[in-house]
Amino acid sequence: MPAAQIKTKIITNRRLKANYWHLEFESGLIARSARPGQFVNIRVNDLLEPLLRRPLSIHGVKGARVKVIYEVLGKGTQALSQRKSGEFLDIIGPLGNGFDYPSAAKSKGKYILVAGGMGVAPLLFLAEKLKTLKPLVLIGARAKELIICTPEFKALGAEIKLATDDGSAGFNGRVTQLLEIELKQTRAAVIFACGPHPMLKAAAQIAASSQLPAQLSLEAHMACGIGACLGCVVSTKDGYKSVCKDGPVFSGQDLIW
Ligand SMILES: Cc1cc2nc3c(=O)[nH]c(=O)nc-3n(C[C@H](O)[C@H](O)[C@H](O)COP(=O)(O)OP(=O)(O)OC[C@H]3O[C@@H](n4cnc5c(N)ncnc54)[C@H](O)[C@@H]3O)c2cc1C
Ligand code: FES
Repeated sequence: MPAAQIKTKIITNRRLKANYWHLEFESGLIARSARPGQFVNIRVNDLLEPLLRRPLSIHGVKGARVKVIYEVLGKGTQALSQRKSGEFLDIIGPLGNGFDYPSAAKSKGKYILVAGGMGVAPLLFLAEKLKTLKPLVLIGARAKELIICTPEFKALGAEIKLATDDGSAGFNGRVTQLLEIELKQTRAAVIFACGPHPMLKAAAQIAASSQLPAQLSLEAHMACGIGACLGCVVSTKDGYKSVCKDGPVFSGQDLIW
């Protein structure tokens, strides 16, 4: 189904912890057609500033409700965090291609989900779809207090392992280092990852050296959000591709870093 532009009431918009927020709105149209890895483009207020919509991954759907989680970083997400239940938001979605999880694995083995920071956002929705496969979820963050969504992944029966840069929880180091360790002891079938660019680059290299398919959800600065302005292009073996329309999910082996 093509993306819809809707004006909808905020059901809830609350702080989770630290700078992390949870937003829920109602849209049967978006909820019914959303796939993990797709995103919505949100006009955070009715003012001229900020003019551009902000892209946020679909974190989950329940009935007609759509959930997103976001980190307050700059003026767009700051303005979004000020919005209250009952107020209206202008949203376009679902956008982008999403993860190709039904045909992702070429061989039998574990589905491994690797999240860096806010990268958990689309991966929880994906874990829900992969529930029966009991995926292994590796979550990395700078410190323990910045790790989110572990109860939700556990509730889906996923196995979870943590990595923190300061060693305050789980493996002391990068989540991609933890991935390398896990691959030595686990028969993996496919890797799905979302997080900061350097983390995705490392995940792509690790997947390639293990001859595993990898699907990576990229973040890019966006303007139009529909493939028209070329503001979000990345270089692939097939030429330039837009993150908003051709992505945000790309095969690790297709990207040129
Ligand atoms: C497909 C897609 C899905 C996304 N999903 C989520 C999500 O689920 N949750 C979430 O918190 N964020 C997500 N992001 C990132 C989010 O869109 C940006 O953090 C947000 O637009 C920042 O807006 P701002 O006005 O608050 O910050 P700005 O004032 O625009 O920038 C503040 C800081 O954030 C950095 N930044 C801004 N935009 C991006 C971006 N797109 N990627 C990386 N760094 C950026 C800037 O370089 C700057 O350092 C997603 C991005 C994309 C492209
Ligand atoms: S934001 Fe315009 S092409 Fe992607």
